[in-house]
Amino acid sequence: MRTLLLGSGGRESAMAWALSRSKVVSDLIAAPGNPGIGQLASCTDVSATDPEALLELAGHIKAELVVIGPEAPLIAGVGDDLRQAGLKVFGPSARAARLEGSKSWAKEVMARAGVPSARARTFAEVEPAIAFMDELGPPYVVKADGVAAGKGVVVTEHRDKAIDAIEERVVRRAFGEAGTKIIIESYLVGQEVSLIAFTDGRVVIPCDPAQDYKRALDGDRGPNTGGMGSYSPVPSCPGDLAAAAATEIIEPVVRSLADDGIVYAGAIYAGLILNDEGTQVLEFNARLGDPETQALLPRLAGDFGELCLACADGDLAGMEPAWREEACVDVVIASAGYPGPSAGGVVIEGVGDAAAVPGVEVFHAGTAVDDGELVTSGGRVLSVSALGPSFEGARALAYEAAGCIHFEGSYMRSDIGLQPSEDESLLRSRRAHPALGATEAAEPDPQQRRTVMRES
Ligand code: GLY
Repeated sequence: MRTLLLGSGGRESAMAWALSRSKVVSDLIAAPGNPGIGQLASCTDVSATDPEALLELAGHIKAELVVIGPEAPLIAGVGDDLRQAGLKVFGPSARAARLEGSKSWAKEVMARAGVPSARARTFAEVEPAIAFMDELGPPYVVKADGVAAGKGVVVTEHRDKAIDAIEERVVRRAFGEAGTKIIIESYLVGQEVSLIAFTDGRVVIPCDPAQDYKRALDGDRGPNTGGMGSYSPVPSCPGDLAAAAATEIIEPVVRSLADDGIVYAGAIYAGLILNDEGTQVLEFNARLGDPETQALLPRLAGDFGELCLACADGDLAGMEPAWREEACVDVVIASAGYPGPSAGGVVIEGVGDAAAVPGVEVFHAGTAVDDGELVTSGGRVLSVSALGPSFEGARALAYEAAGCIHFEGSYMRSDIGLQPSEDESLLRSRRAHPALGATEAAEPDPQQRRTVMRES
């Protein structure tokens, strides 16, 4: 099956890797792709958000399946244009992708579907927004309604900063149309987990959960980023909890959309908060996560191409993708300055050595080739994923490989996958010394985990 993959980031690099191993994908073409994707697919210089050029390309290469990676083409309706031209598409329609494109609409859908999420209201004016914010109290959560390149959310303890965030969006229009409408919502305390599912609009098949790291620096400090690493599975979100979340959260949303005539065919991402009150939704995205995908797809024992095709065909019933027992840890290597602006064109060395480490895949995110050399071309440059029999093992391999890669100004977090790795050794010591008291070797408590303040 001739398959066209849209996108050019680390997620799409992992998707290309998984599609290139699929028994149903005969030829893989990427638009626009990147140098890493180029090792697995034919890359074409066509933008993933240019529907006319994509239609021409799809016709020219006789594409049989189009797999859409990023949110921008989904929200812009590229999937609809391709479907209307008779193509099979993995990726929701523009109407369905509003789940990610409009937070206020997503809230309405969740309310209709009976899905628990933070108390929230939508505003287009400053004064009532401040009044509601004061009613909720700190920490304050201010969100742009639309997609703002991961920068639309502010979480802060400081009232003056929250008011500034409201004015920045509504009055100064720093995020353009995406931010003129804002959501003020209550702050949810608990562990954040990403649950991604495949759906054909009727059947929902959850992936194993994944965990990402949004802050730039170790210990969840520093500015928010697109994601500095991830791991899967998530020991503190075991299979029964994830299955229940899929049944009680994702399925009702997909059903509610279907009731409104909106068929969702693709990946649906629920950002969940787990706490004593149960599971609540922080956000929905209309795609696979980045960098969660880089930790998930290496663990997929099934055929990713078959799953994409089944979603596009409305034929997901009966599919039961298996997940490998091994842990996967993904470490993102970023450019100096990220998440602020970063200079491109910096020569990268050592990718081959990193990829040669057993169990490791190096996914390209912000890379380009200049005069025959691999150079940086973005904030997040490479995503190094490693499978291991334990988190400790996967972490060791991922960091060994990441340590082979050098470019001026590069940085990465050193604590990706550390928490589950420490939990593992705690459990090991409990098994080795069953007489140890509960305080010395207790089961890891998920509620004590990372509670990420998404403050900008
Ligand atoms: N890792 C967060 C996202 O993909 O939106």
